Amino acid sequence: MAVARPVLVSGNWKMHANHFEALKLVQELAALFRAGGVPEGREVSLHPPFTSLRTVQTAVESDHVPVALGAQNCHYEERGAFTGEVSADMLAKLNVAYVIAGHSERRTLFGESDAVVRRKVDAIVGHGMCPIVCVGESLEQRRAGQAADHVRRQVLDALSGRAPETIGRLVLAYEPIWAIGTGETASAEDAEEMCALIREEVGKLAGPEASQSVRIQYGGSVTPESAGALLSAENVDGLLVGGASLDAERFAAIVRAGA
Ligand code: PGA
Repeated sequence: MAVARPVLVSGNWKMHANHFEALKLVQELAALFRAGGVPEGREVSLHPPFTSLRTVQTAVESDHVPVALGAQNCHYEERGAFTGEVSADMLAKLNVAYVIAGHSERRTLFGESDAVVRRKVDAIVGHGMCPIVCVGESLEQRRAGQAADHVRRQVLDALSGRAPETIGRLVLAYEPIWAIGTGETASAEDAEEMCALIREEVGKLAGPEASQSVRIQYGGSVTPESAGALLSAENVDGLLVGGASLDAERFAAIVRAGA
């Protein structure tokens, strides 16, 4: 039986927007969502850099902007001598709802292993937040026909051994590395194929209920032009948007695409 999964459109601001710029962006979005609303069955999360989180939280809560607060990363330890790091508890106390874990930029530029991503997922879930677990293959892996195996392994490494109820509430993001920030969006067919494969893998791990309720986003050069087709794919339950989320008009258009 088909399950209606709420679509989640997430704006990953990466290392953009100091807190002045963040306030401006969230106010622009607030005005757009006030005027046009967020379509029914869709949710939005904003993932500013750490230094802008409190500013965005205050603006969202005081103006009742219909968006959830998100973070881009966290450390897996509770507290301690980890200079420069931010814990899941610190994020939870700011009413952060979604935390990205294992973004490919973290994996490739900052050496995050699958084991580290797994521990981050533990910490995020342990603090009652929802991880957005990113998986995706490189261009070399795709060319060598290894994309499916690589993505399956990343899903397994992050999720195996968890309760089906926990897995069913997670968000996964399929982000092919060759599509991130390159302007080369995956076709809706390619995104659907991999998101379906991820759902199948979740089903093997955690059973049919979890596989029907887990949400799977696509990410990689999403634009207002490509968003509608991507969101209409059966197994694509949302979008993780980088560059286009820094422009309020473009992001709002993505949130509304095809609705
Ligand atoms: P992009 O980034 O939309 O700029 O390609 C997506 C992401 O990395 O989450």
